[in-house]
Amino acid sequence: MVNLDWKNLPFGYEKTNYNVRCYYKNGSWGKLEISSSDHINIHMAATSLHYGQEAFEGLKAYRGKDGKVRLFRWEENAKRMQSSARGILMAEVPTELFHKAILKVVELNQEFIPPYGTGAALYLRPLLIGTGPQVGVKPSNEYLFMVFTSPVGPYFKEGFKPVDMLLCRSFDRAAPLGTGHIKVGGNYAASLASLKKGHDLGYASVIYLDAKEKQYIDECGPANFFGIKGDTYVTPKSHSILPSITNMSLIELVKDLGFKAERRPVHIDELKAFDEVGACGTAAIISPIRSITDESNDIRYEYCKDGKPGPVSTKIYERLLAIQFGEEPDVHGWVEVLDF
Ligand code: PLP
Ligand code: COI
Repeated sequence: MVNLDWKNLPFGYEKTNYNVRCYYKNGSWGKLEISSSDHINIHMAATSLHYGQEAFEGLKAYRGKDGKVRLFRWEENAKRMQSSARGILMAEVPTELFHKAILKVVELNQEFIPPYGTGAALYLRPLLIGTGPQVGVKPSNEYLFMVFTSPVGPYFKEGFKPVDMLLCRSFDRAAPLGTGHIKVGGNYAASLASLKKGHDLGYASVIYLDAKEKQYIDECGPANFFGIKGDTYVTPKSHSILPSITNMSLIELVKDLGFKAERRPVHIDELKAFDEVGACGTAAIISPIRSITDESNDIRYEYCKDGKPGPVSTKIYERLLAIQFGEEPDVHGWVEVLDF
């Protein structure tokens, strides 16, 4: 195993040994290739560079208590990448190719999979880009699918500690009938200025509202929003948020605890009624929220009054990690144990 400060890894790029690549040309995918370079060579008129024809995914490989390496719900990432590809007219990566690529890249970078007990994991970043030249606004005829890896710690440097969020009024992330529901680069470009504003004001991230009425909670930085009210887990339903695999899993975990789960529009007036709120995603895992400050009027909604994450968030966070790190039985069939 390489020598890294595993317990203090940031969520960032750390060069590993290899990445894998596959090219789509003349209507079909080629052979999976292995590369040790972290550069790619593409045409200057590639559609990914001009017209944002690019989609990505994020998932993790976890080194378990038993020393085995696990992947979590990777089929959902494969499906979502296919949905992103359809959304912006790119060639779809077949599920078998996606699977083969992630297995290979994890196997090749085993020495970068963080040790059990450090809280860190090996992040996998599948990427699909239009590489063919076009000057008119048209989809490319050629694509590159690649997967690189990086050992990472939690996305929010606080880890599982309550963070402060800004309710963003001055920017929208995604249009009501736009691309918010797929994982394409344009959504992230659209979020950069608002995230900088939030960070500059001292917030961990920003919460976006629906772009039409500005009344309903949409996305929570690079994560989904959830709230707990009594015995109910509530998470927004909207065409402009990414269907988070973590959120999907938390819904099952709260149901296991006997809670109800509701996916429906969440009005901002409801913020005052939640017992706990949080952000969830592969990178963020669960980030409990301590406060939400409305940018338009400075109204501040406060949670975690004792400074600690709430009891329900804590339970589902622990349960999710226990499944991912193989400490508890995988009763939902979410985990693939790797064999190498
Ligand atoms: N929302 C956005 C905008 C994201 O970038 C992500 C990260 O992938 C999520 C939500 C969480 O999704 P998941 O739980 O599938 O990682
Ligand atoms: C993830 O949670 O995997 C993400 O992709 C978030 C990210 C944009 C850093």
